[in-house]
Amino acid sequence: MNLENISHTATSEVTLILCAFALLLLALHGRRRAPGVPVPPGPRPWPIVGNFLQMEEQVHLSLTNLRVQYGDVFQVKMGSLVVVVLSGYTTIKEALVRQGDAFAGRPDLYTFSAVANGTSMTFSEKYGEAWVLHKKICKNALRTFSQTEPKDSNASCLLEERICVEAIDMVETLKAQGEEFGDSGIDPVQLLVTSVANVVCTLCFGKRYSHNDKEFLTIVHINNEVLRLFAAGNLADFFPIFRYLPSPSLRKMVEFINRMNNFMERNIMEHLVNFDTNCIRDITDALIAMCEDRQEDKESAVLSNSQIVHSVIDIFGAGFDTIITGLQWSLLYLIKFPNIQDKIVQEIDNQVGMDRLPQFKDRPNMPYTEAFINEVFRHASYMPFTIPHCTTENITLNGYFIPKDTCVFINQYQVNHDIEIWDDPESFRPERFLTLSGHLNKSLTEKVMIFGMGIRRCLGDNIARLEMFVFLTTLLHRLHIENVPGQELDLSSTFGLTMKPRPYRIKIIPRN
Ligand code: HEM
Repeated sequence: MNLENISHTATSEVTLILCAFALLLLALHGRRRAPGVPVPPGPRPWPIVGNFLQMEEQVHLSLTNLRVQYGDVFQVKMGSLVVVVLSGYTTIKEALVRQGDAFAGRPDLYTFSAVANGTSMTFSEKYGEAWVLHKKICKNALRTFSQTEPKDSNASCLLEERICVEAIDMVETLKAQGEEFGDSGIDPVQLLVTSVANVVCTLCFGKRYSHNDKEFLTIVHINNEVLRLFAAGNLADFFPIFRYLPSPSLRKMVEFINRMNNFMERNIMEHLVNFDTNCIRDITDALIAMCEDRQEDKESAVLSNSQIVHSVIDIFGAGFDTIITGLQWSLLYLIKFPNIQDKIVQEIDNQVGMDRLPQFKDRPNMPYTEAFINEVFRHASYMPFTIPHCTTENITLNGYFIPKDTCVFINQYQVNHDIEIWDDPESFRPERFLTLSGHLNKSLTEKVMIFGMGIRRCLGDNIARLEMFVFLTTLLHRLHIENVPGQELDLSSTFGLTMKPRPYRIKIIPRN
């Protein structure tokens, strides 16, 4: 065989291999996609990094800009992971409500399994019969417990009692701090954190802590750190190689999660020791009772005891950072727009008066305050995305084919800033939610996206709205808050699963 023959044989082998590879790709491609249905468009990805380098620090803004070019359904590649991004109220509703089952999964992200250890309803379970039951159990435990008769007051339910106690305690502390610090003002975050965390601690574990309790502060700190590291979007989710390399932030996150789980386990063990079927003290007891009854109830046998009891971790983890961030933003808007604060105070004075404190029952009579809370959710959009979803089957949306097991981001920020819905989305204007007769325009408040939608919708949306209402109105019932002299108020935020405002101080003046 001469040289020419050798080179010819080698060329034809290469050609054959390439042809076979192309056929294999075609076959794989054909298997995943219905004929004639295109995949979503999107920016051209770079090798290895995909579209990662095209994302600004504020990822939601980059993805909102890409929607202008590619429409409501487009795809980007984050490292090796294909992510379909959904925008537009109608498209998101079509996906999460009308085709809800197909979009109800959670992706198999590395951080999700690190956080959840396989037992979490929120992060780790495959969507299916067991998950549906798990969500129902969490919902029932939350509802039963928040609606239980209060212990020591004439509040309408235990939830109202707990929230009112914490709100007034917070206001008294703020008042004392206001007297101490005068014109230089205070940073309200720490106090908001401990007050709101106490509400969820009482509901979950039947205990409240003093604001300086060491164990309590450690847990609150750990929860914040887990959320911060988690939200930073771990590189291991997008570049599998990082799973095998030492990563300080991943190691830190796993360490924090273990400490958090130890705290939860300790509380659950204490509850198991003192458990009494006739005296259900809190959500943990309610969940233990479900485990005890389940022998007779065949349906719940698809879930393990550990999964059921660990639901308390889902509720605890989701139930305070989101509310604290909402309150942080609210106070910032109140000092930035004093005329809006005056209107809320006017409503409090008219509807509640000075002889008693605000309660749940006042909420329907205070449309301006409700409009303010909705405008905070919309304008700050501090949960720019829902928790990532994943498709549970091959599906077509707006004419595009999305294969099973595709990671899906829901861009809530885009909906909240869509000029087609809001006309002037960048203005902060609670009045936009009021009808000419001053009532709340419910068909517009429904378009604010902050709790997700459909099967995966937040379980605590009602509790969150009630809690924010009572904390804000109790505060403004007793105190006037204003900007401290010389402080520039900046409405920009740090990016994350929940986006926080930049630190600021408030000056506190008692109202009477
Ligand atoms: C203003 C406060 C809150 C906001 C903005 C908020 C927002 C959200 C969002 C965006 C999701 C993800 C929805 C999705 O993936 O499509 C979620 C899920 C969830 N939230 Fe909330 N939330 C808040 C308060 C609460 C509270 C107070 C609780 C419980 C007491 C809670 C419990 C949950 C749970 C258990 C899930 C997981 C649902 C699932 O995976 O199916 N949330 N929340």
